[in-house]
Amino acid sequence: MKSTHTDLGPVRLSCRNVWKVYGPHPDRFFTPVSTGTDDPAAKAAGIRAKGHIVANADVSFDVHEGEIFVIMGLSGSGKSTIVRCLSRLVEPTAGAILLDGEDLLKKSTAELIEIRRHKMGMVFQSFGLMPHLNVIDNIAFPLKLQGLGEDERRARAARVIELVGLTGRERNFPNELSGGQQQRVGIARSLAVEPDVWFLDEPFSALDPLIRKQMQDEFLRIQAKLRKSIVFITHDFQEALRIADRMAIMRDGAVVQIGRPIDLILNPADDYIRAFTQDVPWESILRAIDIMEPAAGSMEGLRRVAEDAPVASLLPDLGSAAGVIVEGLDGAVLGMATARGLAASLAPGCAVANPSGSASGK
Ligand SMILES: Nc1ncnc2c1ncn2[C@@H]1O[C@H](COP(=O)(O)OP(=O)(O)O)[C@@H](O)[C@H]1O
Ligand SMILES: [Mg+2]
Repeated sequence: MKSTHTDLGPVRLSCRNVWKVYGPHPDRFFTPVSTGTDDPAAKAAGIRAKGHIVANADVSFDVHEGEIFVIMGLSGSGKSTIVRCLSRLVEPTAGAILLDGEDLLKKSTAELIEIRRHKMGMVFQSFGLMPHLNVIDNIAFPLKLQGLGEDERRARAARVIELVGLTGRERNFPNELSGGQQQRVGIARSLAVEPDVWFLDEPFSALDPLIRKQMQDEFLRIQAKLRKSIVFITHDFQEALRIADRMAIMRDGAVVQIGRPIDLILNPADDYIRAFTQDVPWESILRAIDIMEPAAGSMEGLRRVAEDAPVASLLPDLGSAAGVIVEGLDGAVLGMATARGLAASLAPGCAVANPSGSASGK
C-alpha cells in the first residue's frame, strides 16, 4: 500500500448522485428537478421491479488533484458504466459530473469532444490500438486530432514512449508486441495528450500476474512523476490496495464504502467489504502509525521506528509491554506502537489509530 504524507488537494472531478438506468423508459423514474433521494437502495429496487437495469445507483465521489482514486467491485457492479459516465461516453440518466466545477452534462456535443481530446486520457482493458499503425503513429494519433503539427506530435510521442519504457519499439506494429507492451502503448497514447484527468478501466486485468505487478509498479512510477488526477478501475482488491490513495467499493451499481485502504481494512462498513479485506496480509499493510497510541511512561532504551515502518518489522519488539517509539519524518516522537495498540487496531469495529489521516497520509 502506498504511504505518502500529502493531504488531499482540491477537487478536480466530482460525481454527484449519478444514476444510469437501462430499459424501455429510464427517464420516467427521474423528474428534471429530482436531484437526490433519501433512500437510493429502495429507489433502485423499485426501478428494477419495473423491468429496468440499474447500472449505477446514486453514485457520488470526488477525485482530488493528484490522487489515484480506485473503484473496486465484482464484475457487473457498475464500474465501467460509472467511468464512462464521467466522460459521458455513457449518458447518465440523472445526476451531475463536475470537472473543475463545470457540469459536463450541460456541455454541447462539440464542447464535450474538445474536453475529451484535451483534458481526458482513457485506457481500456482491451488496449484498443489501431493494428495498421506502428507504435509511434498509434501514440501520435490523438495529437493529430488535437490539431498539433507533425514535429510537435513526434516530439511528444517520443517523450511518452520513453516514459513508458518502449524506446526502440517505435516502428513495431501492435501484433509484434506482447500484451504488456501493447498496454504500454495504450498508456503512452492516453498520456500524450497531457490529460488533466486520467481514466483507466481494468488496464492490467488481461495481463499475466507477474506482468500485472510490473505494470502496477511502472504505473506508480509514472504517477509519481506526473501527479495526474486518476480514476482507476479494478476488480482485484489486492491491486486496489497497492495503488489506491483512496478507493470506493461498489456493489449492484452503488458505492458501499469510500476511504483510504487502511480505513476499509480496519473498519469495513459491512460483511461485503469484510469479505474482501479478511485475507489481506495485515502485518505488511499496517504501518507503525496505524497502531500507534499516545506516548506514556518512560521511553528509555526503547527502539525508535519510522512512522511508516511495516508492522511486520516491529513484531519482535511488540512482545514487551512498552513496545517501540514511533517517530515522524522529522524525528519527532509521535507516540508508541504496542501489542495492545495492534490488537485494538485489528479488533472489528474499532477506530483507526489516526482517523484524520493528516499525519499518516493515505
Ligand atoms: N448498454 C447496456 N444495456 C443494458 N445493460 C447494460 C449495458 N451496459 C451495462 N449494462 C449492465 O449494467 C451493469 C453494470 O455493468 P458494468 O458497468 O459493465 O459493470 P462492471 O464494469 O463493474 O463489470 C451490468 O448488469 C450490465 O449488464
Ligand atoms: Mg467493466
